[in-house]
Amino acid sequence: MKQKKTGLHPKIRDYGKEILDHESYKGLKDFKQHGSVSVHEHCLRVADTSLRINEKLKRLKMHLNERDMVRGALLHDYFLYDWHDKKARRKLHGFYHPGEALKNAERDFNLTKKEKNIIKQHMFPLTITKIPTNRESWVVSIADKWCSLVETVRMRKPS
Ligand SMILES: [Fe+2]
Ligand SMILES: [Fe+2]
Repeated sequence: MKQKKTGLHPKIRDYGKEILDHESYKGLKDFKQHGSVSVHEHCLRVADTSLRINEKLKRLKMHLNERDMVRGALLHDYFLYDWHDKKARRKLHGFYHPGEALKNAERDFNLTKKEKNIIKQHMFPLTITKIPTNRESWVVSIADKWCSLVETVRMRKPS
């Protein structure tokens, strides 16, 4: 699936406005996710990819809540620390950052149950007990894995 480099999807701008305008959320620009991609940019990519997957699902007559899906995608990695920092919780980051993201998201925004589940469940199957309980969680979880793969492969130099 193609990664869109420029231009914010209108639905991300619309559904995500409250989140994207929040000062604390803008702090994600200061932390790197993979290579030169910031956590902020990564979250935008995951939201964009989720919307693209959803376009395909619509053709199969599956209807998802796009607002919850976009907001959940934007907030899925709302942890505010450098996970590459050895002194921080790098080793356990994969297991614990959904909880950290949820804590920050609940502090700053009023979340629906589905948005909370998207954040909590996005690392499945690593977090084996947090099985996605709705379609939106599955889509964001898959979009996250795809975007992470692309970001990681891009930062490797061709040999
Ligand atoms: Fe994550
Ligand atoms: Fe992510």
